[in-house]
Amino acid sequence: MMLGVRAAAASVALGVALFVGASSVALAESTAACGEPGQPPCPLQGWMRSNLGAQLARRDFDGLAAGFERLAAAPPGDEYASWSELARQGAEAARSKELARVRSACRACHEEHRAKYRKDKRRAPAPP
Ligand code: HEC
Repeated sequence: MMLGVRAAAASVALGVALFVGASSVALAESTAACGEPGQPPCPLQGWMRSNLGAQLARRDFDGLAAGFERLAAAPPGDEYASWSELARQGAEAARSKELARVRSACRACHEEHRAKYRKDKRRAPAPP
């Protein structure tokens, strides 16, 4: 009987330890390895997939416009001069449902900024 109670207490303690452990892993995630095969996506990479990539794939123009606006509001730094302008052009194109212009906004920013971003800012937080 006592044994049963002790075992139950031990398993509650273990549960708490696992829970605390899990939350500190989540906090450390912004400095964790990311973006390579077998690793989780980096912050902006994951954000792109679920805020612009998925919306483009299903032609969700409202979702695209919202994603572009969030991107425009959060340029990664002064050295990314055209970032917000390109994102705003994308938002405009999405609002007028012009697929080709939406795609060229994606392409223009990737060509101009992706390599540098990956080198310098890969762990920066995604747009809020
Ligand atoms: C203002 C700049 C900008 C615009 C506009 C933009 N992107 Fe991105 N995108 C980036 C950057 C920078 C990265 C690299 C993030 C990384 O690899 O850490 C990226 C990465 C991505 C990725 C991740 C690819 C991978 O490595 O898995 C996808 C998907 C993506 N973008 C889709 C889109 C789509 C679709 C659009 C247009 C509807 C778009 N992006 C518009 C800057 C932009």
